[in-house]
Amino acid sequence: MKLIAKGAEACIYSLSAFGKEFVLKRRERKDYRVPELDLRLRAERTRSEARTMLRLHAIGVRVPGLIALGKFSICMEKLEGMLLKDTQKTGGIFTEVGKALALMHDNGTVHGDLTPANVMICNSLPYLIDFGLSSFTNGAEDKAMDLLLMKRAVSSRLYKSLEEAYLTNSRTGKEVILRLADVEKRGRYQNRNLE
Ligand SMILES: Nc1ncnc2c1ncn2[C@@H]1O[C@H](COP(=O)(O)OP(=O)(O)O)[C@@H](O)[C@H]1O
Ligand SMILES: [Mg+2]
Repeated sequence: MKLIAKGAEACIYSLSAFGKEFVLKRRERKDYRVPELDLRLRAERTRSEARTMLRLHAIGVRVPGLIALGKFSICMEKLEGMLLKDTQKTGGIFTEVGKALALMHDNGTVHGDLTPANVMICNSLPYLIDFGLSSFTNGAEDKAMDLLLMKRAVSSRLYKSLEEAYLTNSRTGKEVILRLADVEKRGRYQNRNLE
């Protein structure tokens, strides 16, 4: 196994078997956490990541295929490509992200950490990754937070492509966008108070 990436909470190894490439994502112990909490968080996040990957795969959202699951590790298909944050960003890609997010939200799944660092571009199409903070909810506020993270991370032109596709494709898109405006208003208000 070869270490290919070290994220905030996991190590990613690549391995090959049967002539195919896979990755193993293992959540490592964090010494700054109380041991019981550390064990619980790593196990819970691993389980919810795997559950969400299966659920999204079943409804046709592009995610790496799940191969095997351990207590703190997930073996999945290796995506050949680059992170969205490191590639040429186009309106077309963001339209596809908007469609995927609409499908996912209508299914009652929220990503929880949707940024250009958690989208991989593979054969010119976006694949969502990193579902450790995902949850199953139909709350407009949680859904709005997925949009807000992306909105803060990219240009307004690119975000517009995402939002348009989201609105066209999601049953509850309008409600979520209205809630997003609300969240942003509250955010500005809080920021003013902090100045
Ligand atoms: N299925 C995959 N195929 C190829 N590379 C991957 C895959 N999953 C993760 N990676 C790589 O590992 C990095 C960290 O993975 P990620 O799931 O985002 O974990 P973290 O929670 O540590 O951010 C990603 O930025 C990406 O470079
Ligand atoms: Mg990540």
